[in-house]
Amino acid sequence: MKKILVIYYSQSGQLRTILDNILSNIKDEVAVTYAEIEMEKPFPFPWQSAHSFFDAMPESVALQPEQVKPLPQEILNTKYDLIFFGYAPWFLSPSIPATSFLKSEYAQVMKDTPVVTVIGSRNMWLNAQEQVKLMLTQIGARLVANIAFYDDNPNLVSVLSIIRWAFKGQKERSTFLPEAGVQSRDIAAADRFGTPIRNALTSNDVENLHKELLQNGSINLKPGLIILERRGIKNFRKFSAYIREHGNRGDEARKGRVKLFQRLLTVGIFILSPISNFTAWLQLQLNKKAIMKDAEYFKGLKYEEGKV
Ligand SMILES: Cc1cc2nc3c(=O)[nH]c(=O)nc-3n(C[C@H](O)[C@H](O)[C@H](O)COP(=O)(O)O)c2cc1C
Repeated sequence: MKKILVIYYSQSGQLRTILDNILSNIKDEVAVTYAEIEMEKPFPFPWQSAHSFFDAMPESVALQPEQVKPLPQEILNTKYDLIFFGYAPWFLSPSIPATSFLKSEYAQVMKDTPVVTVIGSRNMWLNAQEQVKLMLTQIGARLVANIAFYDDNPNLVSVLSIIRWAFKGQKERSTFLPEAGVQSRDIAAADRFGTPIRNALTSNDVENLHKELLQNGSINLKPGLIILERRGIKNFRKFSAYIREHGNRGDEARKGRVKLFQRLLTVGIFILSPISNFTAWLQLQLNKKAIMKDAEYFKGLKYEEGKV
């Protein structure tokens, strides 16, 4: 029997459900082992305060690892045919737990092994995936496919519903807002990816897996979001360095700078966003050919420096 290892981090359990569904049709034909990434200092969910939420930005963006709990020795001693790495973006970067795992000694279990990344995002995951591609290369793992799940509601609606989810734990729809995160119908439809995955495994040929998954709709990209994400990460990188000058996550000394970031981000999202959406649209019209080429790049697996 072929062996699959599923390494993942999910605060709400959404990503675990997605991964379960991807494998639901083939779970009797392959041996599946799950390894949840657990932090020595866990991130409580729902988030306890706006401060703790925004205080996670600098280290997410700076790819600063924290201590993860060890993976069981039995997993570390096994050679897997395929590894799934399921993660969520935080602040346009891999979540701190995802980075912490990839930078830990336990990530060696991925060395010389084909890896499929599975992303459970709001809608902005491009820079996160670029960083994950780079870390996988450093580990010596081989990225063979990517499946990206996202919330396809309008950007502002998805921001509002994710705030409700993050702070109240309510994913389900409320009077004025739809369900948060990846839509239930998209989560349920994840089982369509099982057959191509099983076929790739049984034929010992993962080379065409990504192409097959793409044909099944594994990645849908709105080109306008490429422009918005590039602008966002540029500012996040500056703010990350600025806040980190005053200490590490949780330090009292950087509270003022984190608050400033929180205020400016709120203004940027809720007040300036009609302007930035318009200028992004304009930029898209003026550079359509180049942005469409970039969209093809982001759907792929190769890494080129400086794409975001
Ligand atoms: C601190 C934080 C920052 C986030 N930043 C982003 C982001 O930059 N881009 C994005 O698409 N989603 C973002 N999200 C949403 C997550 O990627 C993810 O979809 C959601 O948190 C559910 O993940 P879970 O499976 O861990 O519960 C963020 C979530 C959190 C908690």
